[in-house]
Amino acid sequence: MKALILVGGYGTRLRPLTLSSPKPLVEFCNKPIVLHQIEALAKAGVKHVILAVSYKADKLEEELNIYAKQLGIKISATYESEPLGTAGPIALSKKVLQDGVITELGNDGEAIFFVLNSDIICDYPFTELLEFHKAHKKEGTIVVTKVDDPSKYGVVVFQESGQIEKFVEKPKEPVSNKINAGLYIFTHKIFDRIEVRKTSIETEVFPLMASEEQLYAFNLKGFWMDVGQPPDYLDGMCLYLNHLKNKEPSALIPKGVEIPDSVEIIGPVLLDPTCTIGENCVIGPNVAIGPDCRVDKGVRIQRSAILRGTHVKSHSWIHSSIIGWKCSVGRWSRIDNVTVMGEDVSVRDELYINGGRILPHKEIKESIPQPSIIM
Ligand code: GDD
Ligand code: MG
Repeated sequence: MKALILVGGYGTRLRPLTLSSPKPLVEFCNKPIVLHQIEALAKAGVKHVILAVSYKADKLEEELNIYAKQLGIKISATYESEPLGTAGPIALSKKVLQDGVITELGNDGEAIFFVLNSDIICDYPFTELLEFHKAHKKEGTIVVTKVDDPSKYGVVVFQESGQIEKFVEKPKEPVSNKINAGLYIFTHKIFDRIEVRKTSIETEVFPLMASEEQLYAFNLKGFWMDVGQPPDYLDGMCLYLNHLKNKEPSALIPKGVEIPDSVEIIGPVLLDPTCTIGENCVIGPNVAIGPDCRVDKGVRIQRSAILRGTHVKSHSWIHSSIIGWKCSVGRWSRIDNVTVMGEDVSVRDELYINGGRILPHKEIKESIPQPSIIM
């Protein structure tokens, strides 16, 4: 079976991280965001993943091919000359999606495939979704989840059977708190509904499919988050780490990580086996520390992600922040309030940074007392 992942644009909402890396390759809990999805798809039997990209990303395919080999699947990309929205890319990839498809017949002899928004983190229910889709024998299934504020999502109204009555994208007055979680299955009949032009699947395709009784909703169990912007990335990280703690606790602190006895770890904390932690640190809860990171003595980190190759110097205090690759955080510094550092930022000793978005390769010599972008 095949899957198409809508990777989209430059990931401006995740800047400054996306100034150094295409969004799908930015690590979330020590793994490229899109790899979380690709691994789950491979586990559910998907053999070919197609990334729909609306810009030219050099490193993307090359890097993903390394993972493709490890997982024993194929990963390719289709590039749009101009952004085609959320439906256009499906039409653009029609040939690739149809190619060689004879065995995985979903229902009524129709072949089927998965479509995913790229920055969704959850306990992907692909196998159950597949079973559900095959049972109702219609053209499409949307995974739905419950949120407190549905107005920034696609709102779904459906019957107990799952049949969707109404789909309304970003309504001003939502009539339900069940929303589109950004994971779908379609039969190849969807190709009759879309063309290669800029089209929104949410506003132009789903309402029609619903009115023709061709669209079903599948209820997601457990956590869900769109991690495409820094505050949500941190919220999603907390949800994901707590999920790991319950489901696969051994994945959090793998064997081989040397932690001095004086260190206090308040779980969940995810450590790469190659990171080092100094004496008397207090780490957690909800922290992910990536490969080749060095955390010196007496450091306090909470609710933060530290990406590959970063050095956190002694007695610094980091809270609710994302520290990008190869950064250096000075001694006795205080970093807080969704600060995001791009690649290779260095912060001098004893500074306070409150909600700074710091572009790559900057040296910070003065405190940043108010949230601001440092260019
Ligand atoms: N290839 C390609 N080309 N991908 C695109 C394009 C495009 O022109 N535009 C958007 N995408 C990708 C994005 O990268 C993302 O993975 C997905 O399509 C959805 O676009 P967003 O811009 O993130 O939409 P949203 O978050 O406002 O709303 C969507 O996701 C919600 C769940 O997070 C909708 O599908 C909502 O209905 C849904 O509830
Ligand atoms: Mg989104």
